[in-house]
Amino acid sequence: MCVINKNTTGLMGWWWWVVVVLLAMVVVPRPVGGIGANWGTQATHPLPPATVVGLLRDNGFQKVKLFDAEEGTLNALSKSGIEVMVGIPNDMLSTLASSVQAAENWVAANVSSHISSNGVDIRYVAVGNEPFLSTYNGSFLGTTFPALQNIQSALIKAGLSSQVKVTIPLNADVYETSTDLPSGGDFRSDIH
Ligand SMILES: *[C@@H]1O[C@H](CO)[C@@H](O)[C@H](O)[C@H]1NC(C)=O
Ligand SMILES: *[C@@H]1O[C@H](CO)[C@@H](O)[C@H](O)[C@H]1NC(C)=O
Repeated sequence: MCVINKNTTGLMGWWWWVVVVLLAMVVVPRPVGGIGANWGTQATHPLPPATVVGLLRDNGFQKVKLFDAEEGTLNALSKSGIEVMVGIPNDMLSTLASSVQAAENWVAANVSSHISSNGVDIRYVAVGNEPFLSTYNGSFLGTTFPALQNIQSALIKAGLSSQVKVTIPLNADVYETSTDLPSGGDFRSDIH
């Protein structure tokens, strides 16, 4: 930046404040829109669900992602004010893909009842747990999307589709680069 009018300290002062304000916009920390955590249950010493919910609340977490829809976990999140993503394990995908009724049962047991009578703020259903991970050899390629469609239909039928969205969690390995440079980044051919 060049200061054009060298004689007027007043003008230099004005530029200086522009710089200070710009720096403040970049440097001063601002509150984020939300902070969340993954909460899995495959642990050698799992904490009681109520303790985990207390830890999340005490530390300002507003969102949590679960890997299933285990009842004890969801009961602990009742009226906690924490937004919840419930998960569907990969081993349920083929059943949910082939049966609309199974999807409706899943939504009734694991979403609707917790929202309506348990005060759990469910916002998302994660269909599968990184089902396109390359080590699965494509085992879930044929069932993940039909399962998502059936869960979406079941949410619409339950009148929950504007509150609860469906999504498919992806592992970072769906993205790769043939040149080892970020500019060569692209999705794996089977993911296309
Ligand atoms: C609800 O979710 C739990 C935990 O993932 C699962 O064991 C159960 O089978 C689901 N219920 C239905 C009706 O699909
Ligand atoms: C994927 O393929 C490899 C090599 O054939 C095999 O060892 C592994 O068990 C397979 N994994 C799954 C999840 O099918």
